[in-house]
Amino acid sequence: MNSLPKINLDRLQATIDTMAGIGAKENGGCCRISLTDEDKLGRDQFVTWCREAGCGVHVDAFGNIFAIRAGSRPDNAVVLTGSHLDTQPNGGRLDGIYGVLAGLEVIRTLNDHGVRTERAIAVVNWTNEEGARLSPGLTGSSGYAGDLDLSLARRIVASDGARFGDELERIGYAGTFSRRALDPIAYVELHIEQGPVLEQHERTISVVEGVQGVRWYEVELRGSDRHAGTTPMADRQDSFMALARIAQSMRQAVLAIDPDVRFTVGRVSVQPGSPNTVPGFSSFSIDLRHQSTGLLNRIENVLAAKAHAIGIEEGVETAICRTMIVPPIEFDKSIVETVVSIAQSAGCPSMRMNSGAMHDACRLSKVTRTAMIFVPSRLGISHHEDEWTAPDDLEAGANVLLRTITSLADQTERQLNVVAAEDVISAHPRSLER
Ligand code: GLV
Ligand code: MN
Ligand code: MN
Repeated sequence: MNSLPKINLDRLQATIDTMAGIGAKENGGCCRISLTDEDKLGRDQFVTWCREAGCGVHVDAFGNIFAIRAGSRPDNAVVLTGSHLDTQPNGGRLDGIYGVLAGLEVIRTLNDHGVRTERAIAVVNWTNEEGARLSPGLTGSSGYAGDLDLSLARRIVASDGARFGDELERIGYAGTFSRRALDPIAYVELHIEQGPVLEQHERTISVVEGVQGVRWYEVELRGSDRHAGTTPMADRQDSFMALARIAQSMRQAVLAIDPDVRFTVGRVSVQPGSPNTVPGFSSFSIDLRHQSTGLLNRIENVLAAKAHAIGIEEGVETAICRTMIVPPIEFDKSIVETVVSIAQSAGCPSMRMNSGAMHDACRLSKVTRTAMIFVPSRLGISHHEDEWTAPDDLEAGANVLLRTITSLADQTERQLNVVAAEDVISAHPRSLER
């Protein structure tokens, strides 16, 4: 184990810095939202690096980019790693990016030392993990896992009115690579924790055992535009006032069910958006998370009931639509144990945990054996320009990834003990029945 090469931290950091320069923000963060001009430039840079590292580069119809380093075996059962290069509007320079560029660093390190693995190793950049502009997120990995039809994905409308399919073509990343051409025997994603647990426990590596369930909703409230000066308060169908009441009462109700739930209203639209018109139409997004599917189902009913009841009181029509569902995920136990023992033998203090954030790995777990590795995030900050991880931790995580990937790439199918993952995911928008 110790004879294995180590990654080059200076090179990894320089690569992260160069990527952070594309869409750089004033305070050190990054804005490289999916399928924008900045995303195109980031993708172009990644493709250049991968070609320079001797990889074959392929793009599928969802815009996912696969860089493949050949192995000594002729079959196509590769070991896949990677994450996403797109960011939040005020994003950091590591969320997703670290996993993609550490995957590239693994390949560069194997090249430096002339290591030939049995299986090929592929690094992937999934399209639109964040869902900041084009909702829902996890678009590329959902498509790859067979949970999202291409035709449906291509019709996704961005917050600025553009369509996923058109934008993919515009930036030149609507490819034809077939999923059948790449049959991963395993997928391992390295990521920053994005929460405070590792730092609080003074550990360097987290072996991620699972991910809490995530559901996204869009709530629409339809009242009527009226003059702000002449319309008595009692005669209004004010969509924003209904929105404010509904959002507050949802939060209260959800917390009463379980204080450990996560409930976020992250986007609000009020129309026509004029100071002297009572707004006739408002909408808002909900991001809801918890470990238990049963509890998420229960909360979903409560959300629908609150919207309906307050809508009637405020005289506005309400519609609530579920736009994404990622069930709680359990990762592959044997890869989890492999990572535990690799972290141990590398001398990295580690712990097991569940992820509060969702990841492309959630989708991949449906089609292949999947696990994740986390490194600490300073103060647990993420989706913020201050996102930061100590260089030693970046190095440790990339070295654990290197060892995990090479170990999987040299194991036989029998050792891998392949089992089919459950078919439990649906990404399709669904209106909630009352
Ligand atoms: C990922 O960005 C998430 O929303 O958890
Ligand atoms: Mn991420
Ligand atoms: Mn993110």
